[in-house]
Amino acid sequence: MDATACSTLFAWIDREVWLVTAAAGNRRGGLIATFVSEASIVPAMPRMLVGIARQHHTGELIRASGVLTLHLLSEANVELVWRFGLQSGRDRDKFEGLEVEQSPSGCPVLHETIGWLECRVETSLDIGDRTLYLAGVVEGKVSHFAPPLTSKRLMELAPPHLLAEMKRQRHLDSYRDAECIRQWREEHGVAM
Ligand SMILES: Cc1cc2nc3c(=O)[nH]c(=O)nc-3n(C[C@H](O)[C@H](O)[C@H](O)COP(=O)(O)O)c2cc1C
Repeated sequence: MDATACSTLFAWIDREVWLVTAAAGNRRGGLIATFVSEASIVPAMPRMLVGIARQHHTGELIRASGVLTLHLLSEANVELVWRFGLQSGRDRDKFEGLEVEQSPSGCPVLHETIGWLECRVETSLDIGDRTLYLAGVVEGKVSHFAPPLTSKRLMELAPPHLLAEMKRQRHLDSYRDAECIRQWREEHGVAM
């Protein structure tokens, strides 16, 4: 496998940055995700595909409730990335001090973002390091018209200490993910 080819091609890819929220019982949580994609071209049947690492607190809430809400972020929302993307919600309420409403299914909703889509999980696939959720959009609202924040622009906006922290966490996650993928391939008889 040509790792340089991969990293060269991946360097061209720029993804939108999303805030994913979920709630179950009296617990609520949220994380930042770039693994979010439209999964249907039928205007009346919008579906989304979302990849969430299995160890995340927000993933637990999605598994428990079967519902998630996707918020598209703009540059003005960059502070939300540091709040939701660099620490676990297991030990603290990441929404503290924010103006939070509830979606019809009870997910936390932040109107300061470009807009949000509430999605109900139709099916999920465990791929070792992540769970892929295919979810149908059941509700949504646009609050602000602004260009979306992308992962490349996020790197430019990040102050040096937060950029270093993002890279550190990504590095650690990739070690854990590698082990999970190896195990998954073994269990599923996938030889690479
Ligand atoms: C720019 C960026 C993109 C990320 N993309 C994803 C993603 O697509 N899927 C994922 O599971 N985690 C992703 N993360 C990591 C989670 O947002 C992060 O680990 C978070 O703290 C998990 O929170 P939780 O444990 O409270 O759910 C991303 C983080 C950043 C900063």
